[in-house]
Amino acid sequence: MTNLDDRIDEPQAAGATGLPGVPVWPEDWDQLPTDELISDFHIFQPALCDVEARNSVLSRLRRECPVGHSDVFGGHWLITRYADQQRAFKNADVFTSKIIILPPLEARDSFISVPIMMDGEEHREFRAVLLGAFTRRRVAGLEPELRQYTRELAEEFTATQGRYDFLGNFASRVPAFGFVRIMALPAEDLDQLLDFKDWLVQNQFSQDEAVRERFQTVEAPQFVAYVQKHVTAREDPATAPDDLLTKIVHSEVFGRRVELDEIARMVGTLIGGGLDTTRASMAMHMEWFARHPARWQELIEHPDRIPTAIEEMLRCHAIASPARLVATDTEIGGHTIRAGELVQMPPAAANFDPEANADPERVDFERDSVRHNTFAAGPHFCLGAGLARFTLEIAYQELTKAVPRFRIAEGTAPRHHAGNVMGMESLELEVVR
Ligand code: HEM
Repeated sequence: MTNLDDRIDEPQAAGATGLPGVPVWPEDWDQLPTDELISDFHIFQPALCDVEARNSVLSRLRRECPVGHSDVFGGHWLITRYADQQRAFKNADVFTSKIIILPPLEARDSFISVPIMMDGEEHREFRAVLLGAFTRRRVAGLEPELRQYTRELAEEFTATQGRYDFLGNFASRVPAFGFVRIMALPAEDLDQLLDFKDWLVQNQFSQDEAVRERFQTVEAPQFVAYVQKHVTAREDPATAPDDLLTKIVHSEVFGRRVELDEIARMVGTLIGGGLDTTRASMAMHMEWFARHPARWQELIEHPDRIPTAIEEMLRCHAIASPARLVATDTEIGGHTIRAGELVQMPPAAANFDPEANADPERVDFERDSVRHNTFAAGPHFCLGAGLARFTLEIAYQELTKAVPRFRIAEGTAPRHHAGNVMGMESLELEVVR
């Protein structure tokens, strides 16, 4: 197997991607022949910041080279068809989670690792600790508080004259509130958790050595100390609250107690996997509705369409693109992929596959069934999908009631970033009165 350290390019000046040594497509990238597009493909290409451009280039790659090879990051395969991605996600013994992001990072170097970067029996044991914590039935208990909180924010939005920082004030806070309640962490910790989230999702992987150093020496120990404080408070079952963290603290894996380092990595995965994803999804959906006011009106008039609308919006705005490390030689889409090679599977490509959804370019809030890989598939299927859908549903319901018309705030432009998990950096909206 190739040594993973050999794949990471020697440091060079970072380009527009923030990554040293990676090629950037030219401005007229859409004129490039497919073989050039694919050989320089990587998920940080600045062109992929634009959701529509990204969906369109990925659909072109899916049509013209459904399994293609890129030379970037020492070489990796891009798998784009719905059925091929499903097969790979479900065949986790071959497509392993030792690597889930590119450029490759190993589990020991990440706090977003348990259980997401585990395989086989180890993954099953640790996933079982969290299983059931975020099901629809479980999260439904949150409804009164989460709805009240969401309604207050929606009313604040509608009362705001001029620009409203939707990303910072609404999309960041609503998912974090639900998360804090499930973990039974103090509400006043919300800002601290959002700060940890930034460190865990972005700064721990920074290309800037000083930032990584600060993460290792200051932020990571603070995060572990924070987790430890709450673990200690739950050690006595007689006084521990009935919450997810207590369940984790008293869980067993392979017949022993879960250790502090493992708990910190589990909480890190939940914060990293749970807060940024729902925040980015919510904001991207609202940006789309700001540009398609008739479709917002459709939901105001037909609130019963909200659940399907959420699935359609999740399908059309897939944000995470999981990678895998191949364990044994395998064949997919007529190509042989060798042991030790890397693949990346952007659901944004698969979700527009006409083999999965008829007329996939149409955003249809009455579609009979919506097939997408936005939450992946197989053993690593997103554990928080139920919570994410529930949080989005409450947000859509309260926003459609409180804010009948809105647009992108004048003089502002929404900002996105591309990457393993695509996200938003700014979204300012304003109510149309
Ligand atoms: C719209 C929001 C979300 C999206 C798009 C999303 C997407 C994903 C994807 C694609 C995976 C698979 C990653 C891989 O296999 O490499 C995943 C796994 C995971 N997600 Fe989510 N997620 C979302 C929300 C959440 C929430 C709210 C939580 C919990 C608070 C959560 C917790 C997790 C966990 C723990 C895993 C690892 C599961 C495992 O490895 O067994 N996610 N998510």
